[in-house]
Amino acid sequence: MSENDKHPEKDSESGGFSVLDVVRVIGGILFFNALLSYYFTSSTTWGYESRWKDVGYLKFKFMNGATHLTFTEDELALYNGTDPSLPIYIGIYGKVYDVSNSRSTYGPGGSYAFFSGKDGARAFVTGCFNKEDEFTHDLRGLDIEEAMSDISGWQRFYGNHLRYWYVGEVIHTKIIGEPPEYCEGMKFPGT
Ligand SMILES: *[C@@H]1O[C@H](CO)[C@@H](O)[C@H](O)[C@H]1NC(C)=O
Repeated sequence: MSENDKHPEKDSESGGFSVLDVVRVIGGILFFNALLSYYFTSSTTWGYESRWKDVGYLKFKFMNGATHLTFTEDELALYNGTDPSLPIYIGIYGKVYDVSNSRSTYGPGGSYAFFSGKDGARAFVTGCFNKEDEFTHDLRGLDIEEAMSDISGWQRFYGNHLRYWYVGEVIHTKIIGEPPEYCEGMKFPGT
């Protein structure tokens, strides 16, 4: 071996790939993958839809991992959309979901703003939205089997929705006093 062969510059030129090369190659592959996908499917991800593309979801998972959050009713109330720096949460019979992706619907002035920051399980069942005391987890007086079936349906809807996700639980205070008066509203379609 001559001295020349050990020259550091020469080594780095012939010595395999640098990190930058690897990044370039991977970047190129990803770019052409996206380009091809866009050509065939008009989507850069071959039509694959996932929450993992959602910045808000990634942030939530990054901060909490597999841990779910627990709220008191007062804590949940902070997430009613009034503070633009906080996500918007809705509660359905103890389960809490992030609906921040539909801020125009669930935020202040939105058509479903009444669900935000609270557990409105009863209103989900009755469809009665113009009575404030309907936004409670108190199901007394309702057909409980029907109510629970509606509620699991809504929990599945929000839990499986690509733009919403399960956040954790709200711990309720004990129900006291009389149940809300019977109210029959509309059955409403999901958003
Ligand atoms: C949202 O919650 C905050 C704090 O609890 C409260 O001040 C505000 O009035 C609530 N906004 C709505 C639209 O309910």
